Amino acid sequence: MITGKFPSLRLRRSRKNEWSRRLIQENNLTASDFILPIFLIEGKNKKIPVKSMQGVFRHTLDKLPSIIDKSLKMNLPMIALFPNTKTNKKNKKGSEALNEDNLVCRAIQLIKKRYKNQIGIMCDVALDPYTSHGHDGLLKSKYVLNDETVEVLIKQSLLQAQMGCDVLAPSDMMDGRIGKIRKSLDKSGYNMTQILSYAVKYASGYYGPFRDAVGSKGLLNGNKKNYQMDFRNSDEALREVALDIKEGADMVMVKPGLPYLDIIKSVKENFKVPVLAYQVSGEYSLLTNGINKRLIDNDVIIESLTSFKRAGANAIVSYFADRLDKILK
Ligand code: PBG
Repeated sequence: MITGKFPSLRLRRSRKNEWSRRLIQENNLTASDFILPIFLIEGKNKKIPVKSMQGVFRHTLDKLPSIIDKSLKMNLPMIALFPNTKTNKKNKKGSEALNEDNLVCRAIQLIKKRYKNQIGIMCDVALDPYTSHGHDGLLKSKYVLNDETVEVLIKQSLLQAQMGCDVLAPSDMMDGRIGKIRKSLDKSGYNMTQILSYAVKYASGYYGPFRDAVGSKGLLNGNKKNYQMDFRNSDEALREVALDIKEGADMVMVKPGLPYLDIIKSVKENFKVPVLAYQVSGEYSLLTNGINKRLIDNDVIIESLTSFKRAGANAIVSYFADRLDKILK
């Protein structure tokens, strides 16, 4: 496959000038490749910094229009909503997830009313922003129950779809939930609501700052290893994806991103479905801290993001997405 030989072949020839480097670029990023996560809080006219993620804020709902306006101006296709639920609204069962007046529901309605279908809305399906123990599902003797949790996730999905959510993203790692959610959506007339399965979600140390942002950090007892994947495994990732596609997932997510580029590539090569990558909070904070401390240059952001594209991702969830105008230039 590799032809030619030195000195008639000199690969540096095409790298000599900027125009020539541009000419042979294999991968490029555009705004259409990005999804912006937005953290929501109760209250009015507030923008509260997430300490562990410099440059990221939690916003009250009245701040949404200015964020969406900017996202539209940059041409982002979709945003993702994450609630920071007040502690007094959290309980063991995460019942606030099913409250039609919760933060996410109000946010979806507000955006839909104002922006119609100009931008996609994605919502997590999982209970961790709502449970007093910080786990994604219902607990029994410290174990996250599968089938019982799925029943709640079906209701949470249906509620978010009714509010106008375009893309439901189950991030809970329960078995069998995609099929059950798809079936219930179809039965209720939401057969055009998409499902983006976090099919391959690893039990990762890189989620720390996110748990701070949604306020589940101090609450989480134990870890998520009995439902999220072991980072030592890759064949298992393909089994997860195969199941979710069969069950009706429109797109699949690999998460975290950077430490799992091999997984993005093999999912893409094996299944030829839309694959999304999540550049998670820990990745964001590591890059940001390195840049702020002047250990590394700003360009590492685009280098890191481009690696997802090179590996085969169709789109990337990134906390940098609100600054793309500067990053992509
Ligand atoms: C929860 C959820 C998590 C993230 C997105 N949805 C954290 C977790 O599973 O504990 C992490 C995102 C990030 O770290 O940026 N279902």
